[in-house]
Amino acid sequence: LDRIESDPIERRLRRAASVADLRRIARRRLPGGVFDYIDGAAEDERTLAANSGAFAATTFRPRVLRGLDAVDPTGTLLGGPVAYPLVLAPTGFTRIADPEGELAVARAAARAGLPYTLSTLSTRSIEEVRAVSAGRLWFQVYAWRDRGLVAEMVRRAADARYEALVLTVDTAVLGRRERDVRRGFSLPPAIGPGTILDGALHPAWTLAFLRSEPIRFANVVGRDVGDGASPVTLSDYINTQFDPALSWDDVDWLRSIWDGPIVLKGVQTVDDAALAAERGVDVVCLSNHGGRQLDGAPATFPLVAPVRDAVGDDVTVICDGGVRRGSDIVKAVAAGANAAMAGRAYLYALGAAGERGVDRLLGWFRDDVVRTMSLLGAGTIADLDRDLIELPGA
Ligand code: FNR
Repeated sequence: LDRIESDPIERRLRRAASVADLRRIARRRLPGGVFDYIDGAAEDERTLAANSGAFAATTFRPRVLRGLDAVDPTGTLLGGPVAYPLVLAPTGFTRIADPEGELAVARAAARAGLPYTLSTLSTRSIEEVRAVSAGRLWFQVYAWRDRGLVAEMVRRAADARYEALVLTVDTAVLGRRERDVRRGFSLPPAIGPGTILDGALHPAWTLAFLRSEPIRFANVVGRDVGDGASPVTLSDYINTQFDPALSWDDVDWLRSIWDGPIVLKGVQTVDDAALAAERGVDVVCLSNHGGRQLDGAPATFPLVAPVRDAVGDDVTVICDGGVRRGSDIVKAVAAGANAAMAGRAYLYALGAAGERGVDRLLGWFRDDVVRTMSLLGAGTIADLDRDLIELPGA
């Protein structure tokens, strides 16, 4: 009790029981522009809503009297162990939510026994993140126009024992995120009286931000977003640095410079999943970037079953987008995914309560998965199948 009284983070977390609670706390603590950058999505945000809506529209078919006395949520993903079937998604500029940024998330993921994907646009480097984590790490790349830069990062990721390369293919150009347009959100975030007075007062964030080193891209040296004197908008940056002409040949090129598994992140149709399988891609990650790219793109979860049917059992399928509870992870796996991926959930946790917030979230997710499996009558991950869910329209 003493600890709770004297510990503001504990006090904050004590009042939280769900991702929605963490989101609410993060909204209170972060500057409005930072919260909206994390929380927002493209245009009318319909795809954002559709992602979690698809989970909500799916009900369970719980089986009873199965004589289960224990539930085991552990599994294997790309030949390695996972404490439960979840991967932490890559998110850029994580240090805007908390000064520890990617280091905090990587440590929490390792403690939870889950793989963490570091973004190309991270604010801690490939090597810094490896130095704090003995856990499983994946590295995400975008198609920079300068392929030499990609090759260099891929080499560094291999040297630092990252296990898988995640090529994000849904970002030919940046989606129009209207909250960012309205806020004039830029990188590095411009700090001034406007930030401090933006929305609620958030002196703690501002102080922490001002005290920590400047926010910069840690992996793409020489392509920094400026020294803080001349912030740029994300769309200006990405639309000049990324190559919109990415093609299947580039996937083959990546294959030629990387020996480990390749995850194609941003597949949004059964047709492209089948093409990926034909090309020998190891992992299809069904994703619409959390609704941040093409508004009107389909929700990802309903794609899982048809994609699994199209690619067979040899391709690993990951369902990314809309995961807010462990029961969503269970639904994704029951529909045929090997794992789910989550982004905003851990960013809300980080913004609400730093590294301990992420620990708390990943613990809740594990408890949710175990409880849900128990209530469904499924003792192991292998027991999760389509008979346990009622897919909308099925
Ligand atoms: C992202 N996402 C993302 N994806 C990627 O491949 N590279 C990146 O740098 C980023 N950056 C990023 C920043 C922020 C603030 C968010 C919210 C998301 C997309 C991310 O990997 C994932 O696809 C979505 O977050 C999944 O949707 P949910 O879990 O947020 O609903």
